[in-house]
Amino acid sequence: MTPDPLIEAARLARERAFAPYSNFRVGAALEAADGRIITGCNVENASYGLTLCAERVALVKAISEGITGFKRVAVVTDVDDLTPPCGACRQLLWEFAPDAEVVLANLGGRVAVYRVAELLPHGFDASQFKGAK
Ligand code: THU
Repeated sequence: MTPDPLIEAARLARERAFAPYSNFRVGAALEAADGRIITGCNVENASYGLTLCAERVALVKAISEGITGFKRVAVVTDVDDLTPPCGACRQLLWEFAPDAEVVLANLGGRVAVYRVAELLPHGFDASQFKGAK
């Protein structure tokens, strides 16, 4: 089977994870509308609470570079049970990639595909307060 370049990009990004506290290394890769791939890894901090997830790092990198319209996001870890994005990352994905496919993969070749809306049903967005009085 031909390897998926998005999963491969996330796998490489995972190697750059800064995760000395959890030892849980995560790589993410976004596929933009024009085919560009933007990666992220988790970046932990001694204060713990400032830790950034791989998915959010990829998203803010892309948005800050003017890249939008994401078709897919891949998340790669090295555990048997594939790692779904945390709640905060789901919320950011809902904002910037509501129609994206979420491709979860591990180093052993296991893959599962979801939709952002499936992972975040009844998501909160600007439509909820546009008509506020
Ligand atoms: N983490 C991610 O990067 N993405 C996820 O979807 C789940 C959790 C990171 C945050 C932290 O560095 C480590 O995994 C353990 O929670």
